[in-house]
Amino acid sequence: MKHIIVLVSGGGTNLQALIDQQEQGNIKNGKISCVISSNPDAYALQRAEKHGIKSRVLPRKEFQNNHDYSLALLDLLREEQADLIVLAGFMIILDAELIRAYENRIINVHPALIPSFCGDGFYGLHVHEKALEKGVKLTGATVHFVSEICDGGAIILQKAVEIQKGDTPEILQRRVMEQAEWKILPQAVSLFCEDRLQIENNHVWITE
Ligand code: GAR
Repeated sequence: MKHIIVLVSGGGTNLQALIDQQEQGNIKNGKISCVISSNPDAYALQRAEKHGIKSRVLPRKEFQNNHDYSLALLDLLREEQADLIVLAGFMIILDAELIRAYENRIINVHPALIPSFCGDGFYGLHVHEKALEKGVKLTGATVHFVSEICDGGAIILQKAVEIQKGDTPEILQRRVMEQAEWKILPQAVSLFCEDRLQIENNHVWITE
């Protein structure tokens, strides 16, 4: 069983999707062994508690910069014997040292079809604001490995979602979560735990 560590900062609906799929037996060969939050008030922490999952808090505000934060986080991840790290609404850009220590073992869910609406400054609701501003007809979500380039790592799964007349950023965010994020994140986590993701030249192939 692989130890899955989920990093969160906020509401934790993606964490909830992972917990639900785990409880339905759909995360093969892996178990969420710890949730780590950068925010002591994150609702995600309550979700973990309700389902008997260990959680730890490493408050971002106790650190001067992302580098120092990442080093402290690295210690926690080692203590927790992480096999897979899942960024599920984790709002901190991790330092290169941590990313290198867990190369191809960190996955992130991003609320757009990468390479659209991604990179520095594209997080949370802003991503949907930008998609609506541009007038795209399709957006969606991407699950990808984390590399030193922000939102630039190898893509594991993507799912498209249609924009509808009258969408606000909040309405669109919800549809992208329901139709895409909550489906492809647990799928990607299970594929990883089953050793079915093969990475070659920044491309991911899913094996049978
Ligand atoms: C999700 O939409 C996730 O894709 C996004 O923040 C939201 C967190 O929601 N993440 C990013 O924008 C990272 N670049 P949640 O806390 O309810 O899972």
